[in-house]
Amino acid sequence: MAVSVRDVAAAAGVSVGTVSNVMNQPDKVAAATVERVQAVIAELGFVRNDAARQLRAGRSRSIGLIVPDAGNPFFADVARGAEARADDDTLAVLLGNSDESPSREDNYLDLFREQRVNGVLITPASDDIEKLVRVQAAGIPVVLVDREVPGSTFCSVSVDDVEGGFLAAQHLLQIGRRRLAFVGGPGAIAQVAHRLEGARRAVDEVPGATLEVISMPALTVLHGRAAGEEIAARAVAHRPDAVFAANDLLAVGLLQALTMFRTLRVPEDIALVGYDDIDFATATVVPLTSVRQPAQLIGRTAVELLLRSISDPGGDYERRVRFRPELVVRESTAG
Ligand code: RIB
Repeated sequence: MAVSVRDVAAAAGVSVGTVSNVMNQPDKVAAATVERVQAVIAELGFVRNDAARQLRAGRSRSIGLIVPDAGNPFFADVARGAEARADDDTLAVLLGNSDESPSREDNYLDLFREQRVNGVLITPASDDIEKLVRVQAAGIPVVLVDREVPGSTFCSVSVDDVEGGFLAAQHLLQIGRRRLAFVGGPGAIAQVAHRLEGARRAVDEVPGATLEVISMPALTVLHGRAAGEEIAARAVAHRPDAVFAANDLLAVGLLQALTMFRTLRVPEDIALVGYDDIDFATATVVPLTSVRQPAQLIGRTAVELLLRSISDPGGDYERRVRFRPELVVRESTAG
């Protein structure tokens, strides 16, 4: 039999209202009483029934976050930043992994609506934002994370991926490489398309430089390995002398294939740049040059925007925050 708030009140010798105040507004209760009630809560193992509180308050104490790949450390860091900011307002972050699947994304959007979350942070798996318009129309604010959708009214937090792609390719050109390859994922992923666009702009500025595009089914280490195997199997005249990977997971896989299974050297034979600057980028056998995204700051800022949109809907603040990428140079492009 679950312990009720009445059991706690009886055991502590106070009213049910006092127990509620201890849980929700402890500053209104004498310190000794707070201490006694909290001791009884711990002793009886009471866990409050949030459903009743949600119904009264109209909202749960949570925020929904939907990411396309929970296995990617970049999104784990975004979630960490979001949790840190949410915790300042005693809110929890409920994480959903869409795996780039619009149907999985729909299921999480439905679940978060049922859970009456305060808002939804999402890196959309597709450009179909009509469903997000419907969520917002249902009274649940939406903030786009790592994406922005021109013409939409959503708050968004992103990084200028065109500039990031330009920085990556420009750096490879500046160290003298001319046969570049871009190893990316499905062009439907906007971040990938923008990084490629930036790389193309840099290559177009250098006469004689070329850019080959190698598209993989997904942005994972294994697909990076497969791309690296294919490149390493080529005759030297047909191999790129530099690779820009659309994210660090692809770059880690490429590095494994190029160095561990083959006799190629990075950067001597093939220079390599990744994107995100996840923690692993510094721990690889050849530390990775990468375009850094402030992942935790992106998460924190997304929650901050969400809370502002709730507390100050018509307020005068920037609703589309776009951070600038930063090139972090390491051994994979040294010299
Ligand atoms: O989701 C694919 C990539 O886009 C991630 O690695 C991260 O770079 C995001 O911006």
